[in-house]
Amino acid sequence: MTSKNISCTPLFAALSPDPIAKTALSSQSQTQTTIQASDLDRTPPHTNRISSQTPHASAPKKKVAIVATGGTIAGSGRIGESAQYRAGTLSVNSILETIPQINELADLEVYPFCAKDSNDITLEDGLGLKTLVEELCQNPEIEGVVITHGTDTLEETSFFLNLILNVSKPVVMTGAMRPATATSADGPMNLYQSVALAAHPQAHNMGVLVVIGDTIYSGRDLTKINSIKTDAFEVADPGPVGYMQDDQVFMVHQPYRRHTVYSRFGQDPGPLDKRVEIFYVHINSDPNLLRYMLDTYDGVVIAGTGAGNYSSAIKEVIESYQGNCVIVRASRLLEGSAFDSPVFDPGKITIPALRLSPHKARLLLLLGLSHNLSKEEIKQLYREY
Ligand code: SIN
Repeated sequence: MTSKNISCTPLFAALSPDPIAKTALSSQSQTQTTIQASDLDRTPPHTNRISSQTPHASAPKKKVAIVATGGTIAGSGRIGESAQYRAGTLSVNSILETIPQINELADLEVYPFCAKDSNDITLEDGLGLKTLVEELCQNPEIEGVVITHGTDTLEETSFFLNLILNVSKPVVMTGAMRPATATSADGPMNLYQSVALAAHPQAHNMGVLVVIGDTIYSGRDLTKINSIKTDAFEVADPGPVGYMQDDQVFMVHQPYRRHTVYSRFGQDPGPLDKRVEIFYVHINSDPNLLRYMLDTYDGVVIAGTGAGNYSSAIKEVIESYQGNCVIVRASRLLEGSAFDSPVFDPGKITIPALRLSPHKARLLLLLGLSHNLSKEEIKQLYREY
C-alpha cells in the first residue's frame, strides 16, 4: 500500500500526489486515448457483456486508487461508541491497517483529497474529484478507483459524479454509519468490498457504483433512508445493481440511464453558474416563499407530495408566474415518480423529474441550465439521465 500525500484542496493542481507520481500520471495521459464524443454514440450498452468472469487467484495483482474525502468511515470518537464522534478525523491508511487482507485484492494507492463531514462537500469538490479520478483512470496500471465519502450527502456526490465523470473504469464510492473507533465498525468491510469491486471486470462501464452493507447500488439511484442503522441505503423500485459476499461480486442489473461516458456532461459539466433551490411542499406551504424563489433563482425544484403535487395556492403561483425560472416538479417520496400532471399542472409549466429525488433533480437541472438548454431539452434530460 502506498500513500500519496496531497493537500486538502479541491483542485487537482494542488492535489497532485508526490511530484514523481504526478509526472508519471501526466505523461501517461498524453499517450492514452481519451474518449471523444465522436468515439461513442453515448448510448448505454444495455446488452453489453454479462460475463460471470471472476478474477483468477493467480492473475497479476491489480492496482486500485483510494481517494479519501472524510465522513464517518474516517471518523473517531470514544472507543466502542457509535454516536459521539467527529467525521473525517482518521486517515484511510489507519483503516487499511485494520484489514491487512485487503492487500491481497489489489495494490493500493491512497489519495487524501479532503477530510470533511460530507455536509461540507461542495460541487467544487465534485469537480476536483472529476479531475483527479479522470487523471487516475488514464493510468493504465490503475484498474479502478474507490472514493470514501460521508453517507449524509453520498447520494448527491454519487449522482453528480455519475453525470460528469468521463471514465469507463470502475468508480466505487463507499462510506460507513459507524466511526472507525466504534464496536463492529462497518467501514472496514465496506472499504474491503469496494476495493474488490473496483478491481472486478464487471464493474467497468457501470457508472458510479456505491457499496454499503454487502449491496452494490447505482450512484444514480440510492437514497439514504436511515440515520442510525448500518443498512442505511435503499434504491426502491430500480433495485440494487448487485450484491457482495466478502470479496465476491454478484451483479444482477446494468444501469439503463445515461452515465459517465454516455453523459453529455462528462466532456463538459459547464460553468455551474446557475442558482437552483428546492421548495418543500407541506400542509400550508407558504406561496409567498415560492413566489420569492421563482423571482430569485434560475431554477426551482418543487419537492411535492405524492406524485409531485401541491395545494391550489401553490398551483396559482406557478400558473401566474411569467418569468424565466425553470420549475421542476419532483416527489418528496422515496418510491414512485412525478409525471406530467393534467390535474396539478394542466398547462405543462413544470418539468416532471420522474423518479429522481428533489436533491438529485436539482443537480440535473443545474447542469442543464449551465449549458443554457431550453425547457424542452431539460425535459428530455429527465427522460434520459
Ligand atoms: C458525513 O456524512 O460525513 C457524516 C455522516 C456519515 O458519514 O455517516
